[in-house]
Amino acid sequence: MKIGCPKEIKPQEFRVGMTPNAAQEAVARGHEVIIETNAGMGSGFDNDAYVAAGARIVDTAEEVFATADMIVKVKEPQAVERKMLREGQLLFTYLHLAPDPEQTHDLLASGCTAIAYETVTDSNGGLPLLAPMSEVAGRLAPQVGSWTLQKANGGRGVLMGGVPGVGPAKVVVIGGGVVGTHAAQVASGMGADVTVLDRSLPRLRYLDDVFGARFKNQYSTAGATAELIQTADMVIGAVLIPGAAAPKLITREQLSTMKPGAVLVDVAIDQGGCFETSKATTHADPIYEVDGVMHYCVANMPGAVARTSTIALGNATMPFMLALADKGWKQACQDDPHLMAGLNVHAGQLTYYAVGKALGIDVVSPTMVIKA
Ligand SMILES: NC(=O)c1ccc[n+]([C@@H]2O[C@H](COP(=O)([O-])OP(=O)(O)OC[C@H]3O[C@@H](n4cnc5c(N)ncnc54)[C@H](O)[C@@H]3O)[C@@H](O)[C@H]2O)c1
Repeated sequence: MKIGCPKEIKPQEFRVGMTPNAAQEAVARGHEVIIETNAGMGSGFDNDAYVAAGARIVDTAEEVFATADMIVKVKEPQAVERKMLREGQLLFTYLHLAPDPEQTHDLLASGCTAIAYETVTDSNGGLPLLAPMSEVAGRLAPQVGSWTLQKANGGRGVLMGGVPGVGPAKVVVIGGGVVGTHAAQVASGMGADVTVLDRSLPRLRYLDDVFGARFKNQYSTAGATAELIQTADMVIGAVLIPGAAAPKLITREQLSTMKPGAVLVDVAIDQGGCFETSKATTHADPIYEVDGVMHYCVANMPGAVARTSTIALGNATMPFMLALADKGWKQACQDDPHLMAGLNVHAGQLTYYAVGKALGIDVVSPTMVIKA
């Protein structure tokens, strides 16, 4: 199969769909890999690294799209990229179609087959191609939060781990899923005094079993949150209610009960944010202050560490990418129901129920289109 990887063109996107290592694995199986020149530069992979892996470098995205049987990307195709997709071509990338009717209509009109990273599943009920980015955002949260806590950045001037004779920072993590667990691990690793709140008892049991005394956990109620935030130096918002906007767990009124210079890191900002005073910010201007409390609300946190994020995403996508290349999408999806769950669009038909429901478009089941 000819596998093409264009340079990402969405603003502030520095990741790339294929690492040189992934390209090498594909080439070793007899596939041809075509990379747009400088596609990997934002993640620290130069053209030479891809050439050494056996890939071919081309000058333009047009050449990639015109040549490849499968396009591997990171972000949803932008309008100019969607015009280059063609019937029978396979697209493997993040799509997030439900809130994006324009993109959905363009993909349907192109006749391509599109598999969305975000709807591929695993046998534990998880989303294996979303999890790596949650791991990155979770581990980054205490790092950016501790920077914000510094006096010059508007914070309380508290050191995460304290020093001998001075106690550590108090960190509250709301939501103990993928983001929250990784945030708690790093914050406790920095020496902070960490409490994780979650509404799922099985999840709290898991955290207790695995992490023991490294950090505390508590059942999440409005009362528990109200009490904990009064003494917190940092609160990390990491909740998710699948398919819904994030619940607002700290109100503007409650900010006055917090310590001046305390820091809110709202990782759930991509779902609307879980603090009433959150509004999305960018890496160029990530923090702002409301009623004496500092807020960090960057919606694409993994972009700050593009190299780590690219490699983490590549590790997760590579087995699926290789299966698609080796077997073709039909056989690969037939053999793996979790990959089939990623099928969103085929030959002008929508194949993902939740997207159809959100956009009012008829849906055909993936098994039907595979049999056709
Ligand atoms: N800003 C970014 O760059 C970025 C990157 C990755 C993920 N995210 C976002 O981070 C959020 C968390 O993602 P995740 O992968 O950890 O999800 P997850 O499903 O693994 O975890 C969410 C957790 O929230 C818990 N929860 C739900 N309601 C709660 C409440 N009221 N109080 C306490 N806990 C509650 C759930 O029980 C679950 O354990 C999502 O909104 C996701 O979109 C943002």
